[in-house]
Amino acid sequence: MAVTVQQLLQHKQQGRPIVALTAWDYALAQVVDQAGVDIVLVGDSLAMVALGYETTLPVNLDEMLHHARAVRRGVQHALVVCDLPFLSYQESFQQALHSAGRVLKETGAQAVKLEGGYPAMAEIVSRLVQTGIPVMGHVGLTPQAVHQLGGYRKQGKSSETAEKIIAEAIALEQAGAFAIVLEHIPAELALQITQKLNIPTIGIGAGPHCDGQVLVTADLLGLSQWQPPFAKSYTNLRQEITQAVQQFSAEVRGHQFPDPGVK
Ligand code: KIV
Repeated sequence: MAVTVQQLLQHKQQGRPIVALTAWDYALAQVVDQAGVDIVLVGDSLAMVALGYETTLPVNLDEMLHHARAVRRGVQHALVVCDLPFLSYQESFQQALHSAGRVLKETGAQAVKLEGGYPAMAEIVSRLVQTGIPVMGHVGLTPQAVHQLGGYRKQGKSSETAEKIIAEAIALEQAGAFAIVLEHIPAELALQITQKLNIPTIGIGAGPHCDGQVLVTADLLGLSQWQPPFAKSYTNLRQEITQAVQQFSAEVRGHQFPDPGVK
């Protein structure tokens, strides 16, 4: 049985932590899904980890759709959520509906994620939800606003900015979002938001009190060249792949592979 947005709400009510990871292609999505995560996020971080862009800003909707289709083909169980990329939804409800509609129709992903909870964005979320499109919010450090924020800094450290983030999270819940990513904010603030909301919070760099946690899978696997201070690598695939490639190269150059004895 595939995970539904209603089940994620039940997980919060039952105190069962929600596990989310990103994926950008078929093979990774299949592995992550079969390992039993609840949510596979086609995050626009794929701009950096899969496409080599410096930020998430350059990736466009067609590129996201291409990756989301591959991910969706690899997932049988988890809820697939796809990020709406920069400038594919901020302009108007019509633009957001067109982009979110393409995600659901053309990829088979079950939900979209978008950044920001300021009044105009909450209004867009409300209308998407009324149209029947499940929306995940994202507040705190919103990477699509990196230039305005002056870098990937922790957000909500002053009481004024903390209040703003709380207000955005509440506005998104009232708009009908089914969950909210809280990125790079103080743990105490994430706790407050998690306690105030009925919908689940999914933290990344937001401490241990959220209803779930998400990581960029390239960071978890030790594949990223740079990763944020709050990320944790559970293995070092960059090193493992390097060793495998070096061993293959040595065997080819040393005439050991393919096995010279095999006819
Ligand atoms: O793009 C992404 O991978 C994300 C996660 C960091 C939540 O939005």
